[in-house]
Amino acid sequence: MASAVSDPVDLVFRRPTEADHRRIVGLVDEWWSGRRMRALLPRLWFQHFTGTSWIAEADDGRTAGFVVAFISQDDPTIGYVHMIAADPNRRRSGIGRALYDRVFADLSAHGVTRVKAITWPGNRQSVAFHRSVGFRVEEGPGTQNLYGTPAYADYDGDGDDRVVFVRDL
Ligand SMILES: CC(C)(COP(=O)(O)OP(=O)(O)OC[C@H]1O[C@@H](n2cnc3c(N)ncnc32)[C@H](O)[C@@H]1OP(=O)(O)O)[C@@H](O)C(=O)NCCC(=O)NCCS
Repeated sequence: MASAVSDPVDLVFRRPTEADHRRIVGLVDEWWSGRRMRALLPRLWFQHFTGTSWIAEADDGRTAGFVVAFISQDDPTIGYVHMIAADPNRRRSGIGRALYDRVFADLSAHGVTRVKAITWPGNRQSVAFHRSVGFRVEEGPGTQNLYGTPAYADYDGDGDDRVVFVRDL
């Protein structure tokens, strides 16, 4: 594991299956504070990317967090984290970090040397979290300060600005 911090004790970490999709897609808009996220999580993520993805589950079976990640088809030295989230009632208890520890281990085992992720620059908790688990923010040509963080304006289309995170494994 990449981190010396221990996992939340009452959680089980397991691979997602296709059967998890309906429940998790039903959580994401609320977990992103009302942003419309569910269109970013079609079933295909639970069919074709489960080997580098994880679910954290509480004793009572409730989902406490999840991460969906993959290895780049174009450059297998690059891993990419599509989505990561923790239950809003359980934040700051190490779930996100524990999920990332597992993804980093998966990706390293496949020869990945660099991990990337993006976020909306106004999502300050995501920026702080990614920095805390070892990502750096891409800056320099093409970026500008948006909400206090170097970011690419219109990165994902008009009005969809993004911070790009990079972490070497
Ligand atoms: C971002 C997110 C996944 C973090 O999950 P989490 O389980 O709360 O994170 P952790 O408890 O593992 O936090 C690890 C470290 O990240 C940093 N961090 C996490 N949340 C933070 C916040 N809101 N403000 C400042 N720092 C934060 C801290 O350094 C923290 O360590 P500490 O609690 O010992 O100080 C969670 O806030 C979330 O689900 N947000 C909504 C979804 C989202 O925006 N996902 C990311 C974009 S895809």
